[in-house]
Amino acid sequence: MKLRSIELALPGAAEAAAFLTDIWGMAPADVVGDIHYLRGSGSYPYLVALEESAQPYVRSTTFVCTADRLEQLKRSVTEAGLPAAPVSSSDLGGGHGIIVELAEGELLRFLVDAAEVAPIEGADLPVKLTHVVFNSADAEATGHLVEDALGFRVSDRTKGMVFVRCNDSHHSTAFARAGFASLNHIAFEMEDLDAVMRGIGRLRDQDMAPAWGPGRHGPGANVFAYFIAPFGPVIEFSTAVNKVPDDYQAGAPEDWTWPAKRIDQWGMSDKDFDGLRAAEEKFRHRRDWQVQPLDVLTEENH
Ligand SMILES: [Fe+2]
Repeated sequence: MKLRSIELALPGAAEAAAFLTDIWGMAPADVVGDIHYLRGSGSYPYLVALEESAQPYVRSTTFVCTADRLEQLKRSVTEAGLPAAPVSSSDLGGGHGIIVELAEGELLRFLVDAAEVAPIEGADLPVKLTHVVFNSADAEATGHLVEDALGFRVSDRTKGMVFVRCNDSHHSTAFARAGFASLNHIAFEMEDLDAVMRGIGRLRDQDMAPAWGPGRHGPGANVFAYFIAPFGPVIEFSTAVNKVPDDYQAGAPEDWTWPAKRIDQWGMSDKDFDGLRAAEEKFRHRRDWQVQPLDVLTEENH
């Protein structure tokens, strides 16, 4: 199971795409109708889709998996009683699978047979998405839900977050204990620490300072630099998230504390709590599809 892409709808999709290509460092992939697709250096046809819309919202966050894993998901999602539907992706790369709505409206799409593309060169291109994080009214409940209904695993719990993995990367998503449901941030995997630092430099050239960072997190130990994008959401340059074994022992909030005045390993930057919080409220979840039963394979029709 791998995190592939996020699909957003927003006013000013073309301007947002221009920021992500000209300044953030992504490459244009295609424009189909009023949807702008942006890619990184890796083999996914796109990482971010931006669809023109009167209001900003999250259409979906897309994972790719094997056919066997998809069948497991269909069963576990059906057993959990989550709203879901079979889907055939009309986004770049196609593919088919299911889309699922979690308890607080988060829309996760799982695809198989999605096409990949040849990687491209570029030291300042993001490689891929490394995580998409959501705000939750009840992050603890959502952590349990994604373990039960999706087969994800909670990697660590802190005072602020429930970190969740779907492969050996420490987290591909997380749920922030925010008191409301929305997109918290989108993190791009950069080639290395230098690529993160050069990214910060590109944004400083535009008079944009990090809202938090550079720094190195506790859980996952990834390097980060968060910015508030001109089109609304919080976006992050990141690199070097830890890999964890299957039997990784999930840490509890008391295992992840900081000395006074510290909230990361380096302690070199301030955090714009208010600015980040305001940006995190912009993109809510909106389901624009009808719930349908999933065609779960049973012993009889397997
Ligand atoms: Fe992050």
